[in-house]
Amino acid sequence: MTRAQRKRDHIQYALSTGQNRRTGLDDITFVHQSLPDTALEEISIQTEIGGLSLGSPIFINAMTGGGGRETERINGELALAAKEAGVAMAVGSQMSALKNPEERRSFKVVRRLYRDGIILANLGSEATVEQAEAAVEMVEANALQIHLNVIQELTMPEGDRSFKGALERIGLIADKLPVPVIVKETGFGLGREAIKKLAALPVAAVDVSGFGGTNFAAVENKRRTKRLDYFNSWGIPTAAAIVECKTAVDQLDVIASGGLQNSLDVAKSLALGAAAAGMAGSLLSVLMESGAEALAAELSSLHEDLKLIMCAVGAKKVTDLHKVPLILSGETFHWLHIRGCDPAALAQR
Ligand code: FNR
Repeated sequence: MTRAQRKRDHIQYALSTGQNRRTGLDDITFVHQSLPDTALEEISIQTEIGGLSLGSPIFINAMTGGGGRETERINGELALAAKEAGVAMAVGSQMSALKNPEERRSFKVVRRLYRDGIILANLGSEATVEQAEAAVEMVEANALQIHLNVIQELTMPEGDRSFKGALERIGLIADKLPVPVIVKETGFGLGREAIKKLAALPVAAVDVSGFGGTNFAAVENKRRTKRLDYFNSWGIPTAAAIVECKTAVDQLDVIASGGLQNSLDVAKSLALGAAAAGMAGSLLSVLMESGAEALAAELSSLHEDLKLIMCAVGAKKVTDLHKVPLILSGETFHWLHIRGCDPAALAQR
């Protein structure tokens, strides 16, 4: 199987396996505020990650490129929708285009169609400094995402079997690159142990990309004859991952992603401590079912609903959401309690 075919398979399988909504965000409840002292017109959803200023905390997370014309078309349509809604966008892993120059156009289309957008380049943690520089240059990126995908690789029949040296390589890249480096998971959740290691490096932000949304173990298992089903339920749910990371390390911006499907998911993720919220699978399915204009309309509607929720809880800006009281219950409460985070602190702030 070629790398390009695999990229196209990932899209089909990610759509067909869907999102299992086991993010833990359903365990989070806002405490109603009868006197929020807000007006809808004064709500600002502007935010910052790793020194980048974003008009919206919602962005299109890394998905594709490197699968020929089909992925060029998808990236072009994602870029047009992102431009219309004024959101940032990440491209999928660019390793294919570093190895095969013919694939570059499937990534470059994003910058061509979204000239003044915030675009994030993307590579895996096997990348060298030279490859990272080339990926950034390819899309004139404002930042680089480095993804971690141990479970996906182990489930992939042709995947990597050694994960040694990743931290050192990330450190070298973050040290040399002129743009901020964001380290992201890919749906298995970044936890306390990992963020503590990353905090020693000059990385600008982490994207927890937790369990509960697109599931790359399930996607890869669809491509296997001997299935590794035990990896299908593996990972740190998104809600727990955000709180673990924020509790363990204060100085790094945390981005929420993994299974975010609507504005309430986004608002809860921001209230748990995230500075921005990435969405991949749920936006891809809108694009594939209804097209780029429908996706732009969906993004605008997400913005409107986010403002309504912020108005209701008395948050005039994204950082105000970090102070609103939240009730944690169920598995998320249990997880955080036994991991030494203090769920009651979120309820009493
Ligand atoms: C992804 N994701 C991803 N991430 C990454 O860093 N590089 C990549 O190339 C890809 N490729 C990719 C393809 C497809 C089709 C999907 C749906 C996703 C992972 C993505 O950015 C995100 O971390 C996870 O999908 C979890 O978020 P959602 O999909 O639950 O919102």
